[in-house]
Amino acid sequence: MENNQSTDTIPFDRMKESIEKEVNALISQKKNEALLPPAISFEQGKTRISFSLPFINDILLISFISIIKEQISNIRVHHFENGYYAFQALNSNLFRTENILDNIKIEFSGITTNFKAEISKKGNLAQDEINLVLKLYKAAFLVIKDDPYQRLSQVGASVISGSEGLDWSYIAGYEEVKRSIKETIILPLKNPDIYDSIAKLTRQSFESNRPKAILFEGSPGVGKTTVARIIASEIKIPLVYVPIESIMSKWYGQSSQNLAQIFDACEDLGGAILFLDEIDSLAGSRNDGMFEATRRILSVLLRRLDGIDSVTNTITIGATNRKSDLDHALISRFDQTIHFPLPNEKERAAIFSNYAKHLNEDELKSIVKISGSFSGRNIKDICEFAERRWVRKLIIKNLDPTPPPVEYYKHAVRAWIDSNKEI
Ligand SMILES: Nc1ncnc2c1ncn2[C@@H]1O[C@H](COP(=O)(O)OP(=O)(O)OP(=O)(O)O)[C@@H](O)[C@H]1O
Ligand SMILES: [Mg+2]
Repeated sequence: MENNQSTDTIPFDRMKESIEKEVNALISQKKNEALLPPAISFEQGKTRISFSLPFINDILLISFISIIKEQISNIRVHHFENGYYAFQALNSNLFRTENILDNIKIEFSGITTNFKAEISKKGNLAQDEINLVLKLYKAAFLVIKDDPYQRLSQVGASVISGSEGLDWSYIAGYEEVKRSIKETIILPLKNPDIYDSIAKLTRQSFESNRPKAILFEGSPGVGKTTVARIIASEIKIPLVYVPIESIMSKWYGQSSQNLAQIFDACEDLGGAILFLDEIDSLAGSRNDGMFEATRRILSVLLRRLDGIDSVTNTITIGATNRKSDLDHALISRFDQTIHFPLPNEKERAAIFSNYAKHLNEDELKSIVKISGSFSGRNIKDICEFAERRWVRKLIIKNLDPTPPPVEYYKHAVRAWIDSNKEI
């Protein structure tokens, strides 16, 4: 035989059984939903073992290559391009090239999605080839489990550190919202032990009484995302920001696996605020081709919201503009809904004064009088518009910097109302 690897091959069923046994042991020992067990098949005389990966990054690729190099003595790099890497074992006599393609081949593929590792060979595998498969799988398992920050960014979540220094003064008004957030979220996250000790005194079998999931509901631009960032700053834990809509469209078939991966990574961070933004996009696409992907991602979400380990300091915040569109099973998983209303007149004045601190009370009142049902974001935009127009004037007239006069803000309010009428 001219094959590279040892010639004693293991019968297919025995090989399959031994791989599955090791993989299951690994999975039960170290939970990792991002990696499913490999698919193992024998078709048209070929053994094929494949497993999908949540991503392929340099760390993973380098560890794959070093394993291949260690396990197979003569290997040819067949392809090494972004999205496709293939390695082909040569014959042990390097000068003989016949039937070379019958030897074991290892491929890694996928650019933005459907990342996959595949090992194939004509006939059965030898023991050292089985070892190769297991080592590759374990390496993927460990790298993926290893660095939560890396894993999160690979699946489209961004991590905002808890040290942004944002505080509550950034949000003007909204005293009721602030109060209920301090009570329901901040207090339990800051004092988990007290909550747990009470639960131990009251529950037949211990179960945390701390909230695990809170829903933020309200119109666009009323401060939901900003408040989540403030909470992260106050508790000093990372905010894992997950835009559901873009995760679904970008990852499509893999999005449920990726969402599971995000939950795992949050636990590995040792606590985080998991902020699921635009959660209603899960509800919007029931009738089109997204149905299956949506159903799967929803089922991961339901399961994970139920099962968040209450010992860890992870809290999930979902944000939506359209609570009425949400799945009832999903709503019921949230311990509480916090409603962010549009600001009332007094709050609008407070928000204006956040972005135009030089205006006095009467000036603020006069602006608010002509303003409509603005959100905080609208007000911020209006103030920026007024400022930019004023700065242009200062530059053109070569004047010393002073803050914009109240007329500029009134003009911006009217311009904003007019332009939104057209829409
Ligand atoms: N009460 C407020 N005081 C000061 N600024 C505010 C207030 N409400 C909103 N803003 C400002 O408006 C901008 C938009 O807020 P944010 O992104 O938090 O809104 P959102 O509710 O998450 O909106 P969306 O539903 O569109 O995601 C931010 O820059 C925020 O600082
Ligand atoms: Mg937002």
